[in-house]
Amino acid sequence: MSGEIRLGVIGTGQRAGMVKLWQQNEKRVQIVAAADPNAPNLERFAQQLGSTVWTTQDWRNLLERPDVDAVAVLAPDFAHEEISVAALEAGKAVYCEKPMAITVAGCDHMLAVARNTGKLLYIGHNMRYMPLFQTMKEIVDSGVIGEIRTVWVRHFVSWGGYYYYHDWHALRRNSTSLLLQKGSHDIDMIHWITGHFGQKVSAFGQLTYYGGDKPNDLTCLACPEQRTCVEAKLEPGARCAFRQEVDVEDNMEMMIQLEGGILASYAECHFAPDYQRNYTFIGTEGRLENSEIDQTVHVWTRRSGTYRELTNRVYTVKSNYPGGTSHQGADVLIFQDFLDALLEGKEPSVSPVAARMAVAVGCAGAESMRHGGQVVEVPPLS
Ligand SMILES: NC(=O)c1ccc[n+]([C@@H]2O[C@H](COP(=O)([O-])OP(=O)(O)OC[C@H]3O[C@@H](n4cnc5c(N)ncnc54)[C@H](O)[C@@H]3O)[C@@H](O)[C@H]2O)c1
Repeated sequence: MSGEIRLGVIGTGQRAGMVKLWQQNEKRVQIVAAADPNAPNLERFAQQLGSTVWTTQDWRNLLERPDVDAVAVLAPDFAHEEISVAALEAGKAVYCEKPMAITVAGCDHMLAVARNTGKLLYIGHNMRYMPLFQTMKEIVDSGVIGEIRTVWVRHFVSWGGYYYYHDWHALRRNSTSLLLQKGSHDIDMIHWITGHFGQKVSAFGQLTYYGGDKPNDLTCLACPEQRTCVEAKLEPGARCAFRQEVDVEDNMEMMIQLEGGILASYAECHFAPDYQRNYTFIGTEGRLENSEIDQTVHVWTRRSGTYRELTNRVYTVKSNYPGGTSHQGADVLIFQDFLDALLEGKEPSVSPVAARMAVAVGCAGAESMRHGGQVVEVPPLS
């Protein structure tokens, strides 16, 4: 494919805010169409773009348009598989948000259709373009901390209620587990930075803070406690975070055994006061740890019999991110990678196989924590 890509956007909610930034690539992409069953979201999106965008409330109509070369699937997780498969079969290239799908079978279905149609399937694991995490990968790849043996990741999710417990995210039937919705990012980082996929997991998790006995149809705007409730989200449609139907765990701990004899632990908590991802990689010759708050990576070296043992280091990530500030520039850079793959045949930075493996580990974790922490094998690629 060469020349300008005509893009259709499917799903125009919160995430679609980044599409305006994609217009920075105006020589290579033009946003021509958008679909969303939610008419106000669709209208707001079209207005934000400031250009003529054809709109529909049914994404199937969008896929019928011959003037759409590629689609961005920014719909909720449960819709990724159906929309992406239909788009690939309609001859469109696909940029689909993470998590790839909410089941391993769903991911495998997407992989098979991409293979059969020969169309590009790209999953939006944008953390691969965040400078802090790229810096950690570069340090590990340099060999300065030796062979990685242990990984500890702690994900403190503040605004955990605001983003995840007022809408579709809070139900297993829509997202399987927040180990996919949120955790697939971190699992992908663990896989990418170590260069190895998870093979077995054991996890514990519970609904500690959200959920409860409030009616399922109670919205924050209609709630008599809206002035005192610390989780009130005073936006149209936001439902009570303490409603009965909420069933995804908000507090999870997972052990992962990776290929190559590497052990990883992952903790995710959705009622933390602060937001940060804290990663430690321990290798045979040293350890690194990031601080997301001050955008630094610390490296400590141990005795290795090499010149490296003489120096500990601190890396500071600068804040003039190429691409702007949306996820530290990552949302623009990853889309450029998608266009490079589409227009120039470049090997994508995110393989759909890696995206599938992140979902597979998250699903295994969900199964484990719902069965008393039993060890669950991560299904290999079929
Ligand atoms: N990579 C990241 O950093 C990142 C950040 C936020 C969200 N996301 C992903 O983006 C996706 C969307 O998340 P969001 O926060 O925008 O959710 P959202 O609920 O704000 O928006 C989803 C939109 O999709 C629409 N929709 C629902 N069903 C649809 C369907 N079948 N077809 C088309 N549209 C449909 C909804 O009406 C809504 O407008 C999710 O998969 C999420 O995981 C990724």
